[in-house]
Amino acid sequence: MQFISESMEEYEKSITAIDLGSSQIKVVIARINNPDDIEIIGVGTAPSPGIKSGAIINIDATIRSIHEAINLAELTAGMEVKDIIVNVSGKSIYSKNFKSVVAITNKERIVYDEDIQRVIDAAEPRLSSNEKILHIFPKDFSVDDQTNIKDPTGMTGVRLQADVHIVTTGITSLTNLEKCFETIGIPADKKIISSFASAEAVLTSGEKDFGVAVVDIGDGITDIIMYEEGGICYSGYIPLGGKSISQDISTGLKTPLPIAEEIKKKFGHCLIDEISPTGKIELPSVGGRPSQSVPRQNLVNIIEPRVREILEMVNTELEKTEKKSLLTGGVILTGGTALLPGIELIAEEIFGLTVTVAKPNSLSGLYEKVSSPEFSTAVGMIKYIAMEEGEYEEDRELSKVGSGEVIKKVWGWIQKNL
Ligand SMILES: Nc1ncnc2c1ncn2[C@@H]1O[C@H](COP(=O)(O)OP(=O)(O)OP(=O)(O)O)[C@@H](O)[C@H]1O
Ligand SMILES: [Mg+2]
Repeated sequence: MQFISESMEEYEKSITAIDLGSSQIKVVIARINNPDDIEIIGVGTAPSPGIKSGAIINIDATIRSIHEAINLAELTAGMEVKDIIVNVSGKSIYSKNFKSVVAITNKERIVYDEDIQRVIDAAEPRLSSNEKILHIFPKDFSVDDQTNIKDPTGMTGVRLQADVHIVTTGITSLTNLEKCFETIGIPADKKIISSFASAEAVLTSGEKDFGVAVVDIGDGITDIIMYEEGGICYSGYIPLGGKSISQDISTGLKTPLPIAEEIKKKFGHCLIDEISPTGKIELPSVGGRPSQSVPRQNLVNIIEPRVREILEMVNTELEKTEKKSLLTGGVILTGGTALLPGIELIAEEIFGLTVTVAKPNSLSGLYEKVSSPEFSTAVGMIKYIAMEEGEYEEDRELSKVGSGEVIKKVWGWIQKNL
């Protein structure tokens, strides 16, 4: 890795995150100046031909892309990346809600940290030989008949129950991921599920308490996460994203995929009524064929059905949880495909809920470089780790999944086991 002269002391609190996206690898380096100031100091991106639908399908190509993106981020930041936080996504992820119970065994019958640890440990589900636990998110606890407790420390009772959301990942995909970072020589010990990271970038704690879903529509995958009373009650994905829209445009307008992709970004829209019937777009000449002028409405007629299909699949997932009616905070769309104009209106119609498009916020420094829904996953990982390492003020910490302290305990547990 390249190293540009700079005092390392100045970057003691730097955090680097890498989003292994299906279209692009994004590296973000941030300095945590004070509890409320996450300063973006380095950003690097590279195309990711070795990743498909969130999974590594070509290790060598992925290593090259990771190298390129890290080098660019190091150049902007003027520092060397020592370790990195990485997202995990794709079809090897499996999520489930789980309940576990333990007896409070000490003489005073008071819940101590060890009891919380025990009840979380007890939530360990039966795993197949190809699975590992990635996260255990505590939702809430019960002590005897008292339910919905966010942090039971110090309470008295005989029976402690935890409601948790467990996320597991396939060992094969984890091994592939680790192989990439081992080859590069940068430890990637902390791994975070993409949907959770994106939510950390765009949600306020109040929204989590209200009940909200975050839908990150990327290139090859759409990640979904749902919060109820501050805790995660569902996480999942749809194996479709913006790439399927570009492929439809490529087929429909008989133009190569890279051109279809470019046209989608420049002229794409989801609502036919918003497009003038006389509006035209220019398809560049390809392989000796002359350039071609086509009505923009043709493009929108291709985009809209695919966007509807993706959102309808998301809606089916939300409905399956039987908790959609609790989403008082509505749905937040993020990820690059959320940049399609009009997408929130179609989503509102399909979900029957308030929908907004969000991008990472409350940042300083080179924040403009990450001020796009495409950077939610990378920035969210940084925000979460900054919080987890105690860089945020107490009240923000307490409003995260469970209490801040509970999160820290659980995080330690996850790291031991991964
Ligand atoms: N202005 C835009 N209009 C429409 N689509 C866009 C726009 N900008 C980016 N996209 C699409 O967003 C997708 C990339 O988004 P993102 O970076 O969130 O995905 P990714 O993280 O690489 O992939 P994934 O999360 O699926 O693994 C691409 O399909 C791209 O075409
Ligand atoms: Mg993504």
